[in-house]
Amino acid sequence: MGRFDGKVAFITGAGRGQGRNHALALAGEGADLALVDLGSAGRVEFPAYRTSTSDDLAETKAMVEELGRRALTYEVDVRDFAGLKDAADETAATLGGIDYVVANAGISDGFFPIWDLPVENWQGMIDINLSGVFYTCKATVPHVRARGEGGSIVLVGSVAAIRGYGWMTHYTAAKFGVRGLAVALAKELAPEYIRVNSVHPGAIQTDMTEAMVYLGDKTMDELLQQFRDQQLLGRNIEKRDSTAAVLWLLSDESRFMTAQEFIVDGGESKK
Ligand SMILES: NC(=O)c1ccc[n+]([C@@H]2O[C@H](COP(=O)([O-])OP(=O)(O)OC[C@H]3O[C@@H](n4cnc5c(N)ncnc54)[C@H](O)[C@@H]3O)[C@@H](O)[C@H]2O)c1
Repeated sequence: MGRFDGKVAFITGAGRGQGRNHALALAGEGADLALVDLGSAGRVEFPAYRTSTSDDLAETKAMVEELGRRALTYEVDVRDFAGLKDAADETAATLGGIDYVVANAGISDGFFPIWDLPVENWQGMIDINLSGVFYTCKATVPHVRARGEGGSIVLVGSVAAIRGYGWMTHYTAAKFGVRGLAVALAKELAPEYIRVNSVHPGAIQTDMTEAMVYLGDKTMDELLQQFRDQQLLGRNIEKRDSTAAVLWLLSDESRFMTAQEFIVDGGESKK
């Protein structure tokens, strides 16, 4: 018996990184999956950024299937509401419904004072990291409601949404928006026992942090040292740490948690 036997989860940004890790953990505990990522559906221009490829997404699907679960893949840009709606509608029709949503797709950027932050980078960040989360919720929530059995939605923020990062005003603002979106949506969905929470990881080494090296002026070792120094615990946070929080929030073990922020940051936000 897995915690998610017979359940269906819809995850964005599932081609690699934390999204893939959440998908595999859910599949390992019995869930079928809808896996969404950009693949060949478009390109992130601002900042110029290597996102997941079709092969990355296909690899996540194969890994889920190796665990004995079903996986549908959708190459959709989270800025494309119609594409997300089609994906959610087909998921519900094919897998029988949607119980869980993890709005995880996101980008980072280099560091800029606001007067040097290109308007295009601001807009790209808000479109993907905030509007993309809204579109994901708007596309999937009708199916979670249609189940009539409650449900759980996790929106992925960042420790930036708790403490705020200077020189990353666009990332900070988008992630504060995600935090607010989760609380507002939790209020709307509470009467139907659909819980909505946000998870706020500290820095975790993924392709996103690799991109921060490429877009910034620090080596990976320097960046990881900076991340450790920012915390109380002073250790590298791993993908399994954010996955543990996401799975717990989706599971019935957190059945009385809604409209909350879960911070997986080694104490950074309190330092
Ligand atoms: N890595 C960190 O240090 C860190 C810390 C806090 C929060 N986060 C958040 O965690 C989430 C996952 O990040 P990650 O660390 O796994 O990085 P990642 O780059 O490995 O994964 C992000 C995924 O989102 C996808 N994506 C980006 N833009 C997209 C778009 N327009 N449409 C569809 N998919 C798109 C990418 O292709 C990629 O697969 C993000 O929301 C990120 O902001 C990351």
